[in-house]
This record gives sequence, structure tokens and C-alpha cells, in this order.
Amino acid sequence: MNDAVSSLYRQFAQDEAVGVSQTYFEWAMGVAEEAEMTERIARLPGMKQQPNLVFAASRWLGAPLGSYAQLRGWLAQHWEDVVRVVLERSTQTNEAARCAALLPVLARLGDEHGGLALVEAGSAAGLVLYPDRYSYRYRYDAGDGIVELDPPGGRSAIVLPCRIDAESIPARVPTVVWRAGVDLRPIDLRDAEQLDWLEALIWPEHEARRVRLRAAAELIAADPPHLVAGDIVERVPALVAQAPAGAHVVVFHSAVLAYLTPERRAEFVAMMRAMQHEWVNVTWISYEGVQVLPEIAAKAGVDAHGRMVLAVDGEPVALVGPHGQSFQRL
Ligand SMILES: C[S@@+](CC[C@H](N)C(=O)[O-])C[C@H]1O[C@@H](n2cnc3c(N)ncnc32)[C@H](O)[C@@H]1O
Repeated sequence: MNDAVSSLYRQFAQDEAVGVSQTYFEWAMGVAEEAEMTERIARLPGMKQQPNLVFAASRWLGAPLGSYAQLRGWLAQHWEDVVRVVLERSTQTNEAARCAALLPVLARLGDEHGGLALVEAGSAAGLVLYPDRYSYRYRYDAGDGIVELDPPGGRSAIVLPCRIDAESIPARVPTVVWRAGVDLRPIDLRDAEQLDWLEALIWPEHEARRVRLRAAAELIAADPPHLVAGDIVERVPALVAQAPAGAHVVVFHSAVLAYLTPERRAEFVAMMRAMQHEWVNVTWISYEGVQVLPEIAAKAGVDAHGRMVLAVDGEPVALVGPHGQSFQRL
């Protein structure tokens, strides 16, 4: 038994998969308790041992979505293929639904200015760059009322539900005049293989997220985003400089800074603060976990209960669901 892998998989099962994916819970517990599997996985390089990556590679290659015993039987025959995929690929996600939590802030900025120029740091495939193309259903006051918000062209194929406090409901879908993103590994969803891999990374039971991903990929294929490959600290300033004159520039990032070292995170924050002094027309929105920007989360002064902190120019404004499912004003 490899104890480190065993505890990695047990922890994943108990902290992340429990109540979220029964399949991944059973698979991870199964691996954690079996000497041979833990030893196989231990031969992968450190970052490649992640349960999420090993399971996604297995599913991508056709592992049956059943019991751990079935998975084990399948892995016995396909382990070399799984290793190849695990070594070639890495985990990535892109969640259009985060737009529902960004919209209350974006709509206010859009009201005050001519139009928005969006610069997304850590954009993956760029699905969060299209808040103006989705429909929203904001449920407020303990579920009694719903506000429906559609883009000017009418109801979108992607409808994003979000629980919200009544005061924060956005008045309209803002106008986006320009959009661009930067990512270490930009994803092109017009490429079927890249779309399939992103889909494999969505956990088995989360069918609604898979459907949303497919629909969003189709929607943006007609107007693909401008995505630059590179590091956010190095690439964001040039994108801000390219934004059209007169537009209000919004630099934003969701679930990204956790991937940076604390030192690099601090450099990014310092860069954003300096940019705000230099450029009047730039707003910085961060949508990150409590641990990721602790000095901003501390200003919120409340228990986030698993939610993320939405901050504007470094000031927390709301606690939001990690996948845009809720917005609670601070
Ligand atoms: C969890 S995904 C979130 C994607 C998107 N922001 C969303 O909300 O759906 C994190 C993304 O950040 C990117 N990333 C991580 N570190 C980065 C860096 N230093 N520079 C650029 N992109 C980075 C990853 O490649 C990945 O696509």
C-alpha cells in the first residue's frame, strides 16, 4: 500500500466528492483501500496523481460509469493508456454560470459607462467572457420571486439560475463592446477533442453542467473570443492597453489565483492596484476562494460557508456560489 496515495484519495472522497458525486466517492474510496492501485498511481509524477485527473482520463477513454469493482477491472486492461492521457493532459474547467454572480457588478458598471471591455485573467476557453449572451433567472427573497433577464436578442440557449438578495438584482444585461482573455493553456472549443476533454473533467452526475458546456461552446463558436496564451502577470497589461478607447475596462478572474504561488499572487494584486492608479477607466473584479486572497476575505468579516468572495477593486462586495449559483451582498 502507498500510504500517501491512499490518504490523497481518501481525503478527496471525504472532503470533495462526498455528497457531490457518488461515483467519484466510491471510486476514490476503492482506490484508497487497495494496495495495488495506490502503488500504480504512486509511480505517476506528483501533480499527476490527482483523483480528478486519473478518473477523467479513465472516463475519457471509456471506463464504465459503475462500481469501483468495474473500474478496477477496466483499469487492469487499460492502465497504460490512462497513464499516457494523464501525462499529456491536465485538469481545467470553465463555468459559464459564474456570469450570473458577476452580472450584478457588471450591470452597474455598464449603466455608468458607454460599454464594457472585458479582460479575463485565466479564461480557459473564455466562456465567462460572454455575460451579455446568456439568460438569467434570479430567484430572490427565499425563493418567492424570480426576475428574468435576457440579452437584447431574446432568451439565450443558456439559462443561468442564481439565488440573490432582492437589492442586488441587476437591472439589465450590460453591453460588451470588446472581450479578450489570457490563459496558460487557452482552450479552443471549436476543436472537438478539446471540448470532449473539458466535458470529461465535469464530474459524472453533473449532467446540467455538461449540457451547459455544450450549449455555450456552440454559442461562442459563432464569435470566438480573442485568447492569448501566457501568464496573467505578464499578459494582462497589454490586453488592457488594447481595449477600445472610451470603453470601461473590467479585468476579472474567477477560480484562478489558487493556481499561482502566494508570491506570484501578490505580484498580480500589486499589478492590479498599480493599474487602477494609472488608468481611471479600469475596474478589477476578483472571484476567488476565501483562502486565496485572505486579506480581501478578512475585510468581509463573515463566515463564507463554502462560498467565494466577489471583490471590486480589492473591496469585498458579495459572497457568491463557486459556480455562480448564488449572490449575497455584503
Ligand atoms: C479553474 S479554471 C477557471 C477558468 C475560468 N476563469 C472559469 O471561471 O471558468 C483556472 C484557469 O486558470 C488558468 N491559469 C492558472 N494559472 C495561470 C496563470 N499563471 N496564467 C494564466 N492562466 C492561468 C488555468 O490554465 C485554467 O484555465
